[in-house]
Amino acid sequence: MSKINISPRISTLPLSAVRKLVPYANETKKKGVLIYHLNIGDPDIKTPEAMLKVLKQWQINPIGYAPGIGEPIFLDALLTYYHRLGQIFVKKEDLIATIGGSEAVAMALFAVTSQGDEVLVFEPFYSGYLPPAHLFGVKLVAVPTRIQDGFHLPPKKTIESKITTKTKAILFCTPGNPTGTVYTRQEMKMLVALAKKRGLFLISDEVYREFIFVNRSHVSLLEFMTQIPDQAILVDSLSKRYSLCGARLGVLLSLNKAVIKGVSIMAQGRLSGGLIDQHLAAKLIDVPHSYISAIQKEYRKRRDFLYEGLLSIPGVTMTKPEGAFYCMVSLPVKNAEQFCIWLLTHFRDNNETVMLAPGAGFYITPGQGKNEVRIAYVLKISQLKRCIQIIAQALSAYNTQVM
Ligand SMILES: Cc1ncc(COP(=O)(O)O)c(C=O)c1O
Repeated sequence: MSKINISPRISTLPLSAVRKLVPYANETKKKGVLIYHLNIGDPDIKTPEAMLKVLKQWQINPIGYAPGIGEPIFLDALLTYYHRLGQIFVKKEDLIATIGGSEAVAMALFAVTSQGDEVLVFEPFYSGYLPPAHLFGVKLVAVPTRIQDGFHLPPKKTIESKITTKTKAILFCTPGNPTGTVYTRQEMKMLVALAKKRGLFLISDEVYREFIFVNRSHVSLLEFMTQIPDQAILVDSLSKRYSLCGARLGVLLSLNKAVIKGVSIMAQGRLSGGLIDQHLAAKLIDVPHSYISAIQKEYRKRRDFLYEGLLSIPGVTMTKPEGAFYCMVSLPVKNAEQFCIWLLTHFRDNNETVMLAPGAGFYITPGQGKNEVRIAYVLKISQLKRCIQIIAQALSAYNTQVM
């Protein structure tokens, strides 16, 4: 019998930067060790009560499909959300409800590229962009940004130098994962000008829109959408905003009718997003503003605490994140992935350790990010305090051991 092989398409899929070390963590947990998870952005903040109530009082039986493009009650609520943001030009037909922002990213990439095309990303970038690009045969081309510039955009000519005849889009995220960088109005204007000049799509991932810790407001692609109606695509998600990661709720928003038509056919192809999820998410318009402002306050406190704490560790460098709930941190080690593995497999303090995401997984340029880690501050201050103690002790022990 001839040998059965799976496709190289799947066997070469890149491993998720945030989940890569999970097998080590599972082994460690089996031994009764407590692991603080700073590796993944799954918030510990409670989901709004108004949403949970829908689950507790659920009556619809049977639980059928929702329309492919989204349950009307959810689309109406999203429309209200964007109108409240001041974007009154948005219409219901510009929205597709997706299965998380992840599906919106994949659909946007599928809609604007063909196999062999290129999409610019600002490195380091969210590693979740890699799998759909790989699946569709699209090359992500890295435009480097620097830790000493707070990962803000490089000059326009640097970005332009990466554009080829195959470039179809610029995919970016503000506030950024993994960097926490919030692009300024000037930077957003530059991207819009570049898209106009070079005829590119802009795909703006704004799933952390509400998490801004600097004294300037978030500048959304929505503000420029009517200037470049055919080129702008917004990716959004409820996962982080309402602590709904497990409910899988996202949005693709575009004024380009051909994009929306194509994506709605894709959406029909996978039949439906979750009916229950969309009904509970429709309550987003009943979530009081105090819920969001309390979260903003909490994450800002955590950001400040973590920043001060990490910088007090000898050899650790970082820039203060401006938003989201992530930071890229440079550690005094040669290979941060080895250090992250060692933390899980060897290091214990009072039978506790921490799990970090190796920074190199957020770069595609070989050798970049080798001494960096990404930290998600999705734990309480008391837990972050403990994590900082553990990281400090571990670095000292690791460097003594490898010397
Ligand atoms: C920048 C960014 N975009 C999109 C997503 C996708 O999230 P979800 O599929 O849960 O909406 C994430 C998740 O971490 C993210 O960090």
